[in-house]
Amino acid sequence: MSADGRTVNDVISFLQTCQGAESQERIKFYDGWAETYEQDHSILHYRAPNQAVDFLMENFSGRPEEVQVLDVACGSGLVAKLMIELGFKHFVGVDGSQGMLDQAAKTGFYKELRLALLGTDPLPAQTGVFDLVMIVGALRQGFVPVSVIRELCLAAKPGGYVCMSRNCLESEAANEYKVSLEAELQLMEEEGLWSHVNTKVTEKYMIDVYNCCDDVQNDKYTHGAKYLYRKSLQ
Ligand SMILES: C[S@@+](CC[C@H](N)C(=O)[O-])C[C@H]1O[C@@H](n2cnc3c(N)ncnc32)[C@H](O)[C@@H]1O
Repeated sequence: MSADGRTVNDVISFLQTCQGAESQERIKFYDGWAETYEQDHSILHYRAPNQAVDFLMENFSGRPEEVQVLDVACGSGLVAKLMIELGFKHFVGVDGSQGMLDQAAKTGFYKELRLALLGTDPLPAQTGVFDLVMIVGALRQGFVPVSVIRELCLAAKPGGYVCMSRNCLESEAANEYKVSLEAELQLMEEEGLWSHVNTKVTEKYMIDVYNCCDDVQNDKYTHGAKYLYRKSLQ
């Protein structure tokens, strides 16, 4: 339970009100949710940022303090917060929700925050500038479409990394998204745009809010999949 008395059931009921929403509607939902987003995600045992950053660090050998990071779908800044603890210093954040960007701005972590509804607006980032592009918690049906993956790769420097994390939800739409995402990742490798570094599936990404039983004491968790690619040098 949170400090203001919200329970797991309250948060699940709230989240289920936007089940099946498409991007624009979902962004409005995030605008309204921004102030209690972190608190509610802690109630949901949301481990995606920790798992993505751990995965990155298992596979990345750069000097954190020199790395220019583009944090896509940055939300309130949970990913940057963990990375700063590891020595990363330079962040640009992008999100479709002004409410979430306002929360991110309060952290002081980002040198710039840019508003864009990805899939509709182009990714607001120069080509070939970032050592590392992160996207955590937004690769899903109704969030960031698969077509944006190419834009993430474009924003990375030659030799730079793109680190992606996805919630492995159990639904037909989620499975279609996964198949289409993984086909695009592979196609981009075949086209010579980047090379695969690692993929990892980890348990306990967060409480499964869409397939939970009535008894939340027996919490069911989703898995999380992480993918790391390295952009080709030419
Ligand atoms: C689950 S939150 C993840 C935020 C942050 N990365 C984290 O792990 O805490 C999803 C974020 O994606 C953003 N988002 C969803 N769809 C988007 C889109 N099409 N374009 C830009 N941002 C989007 C939402 O506004 C929200 O901040």
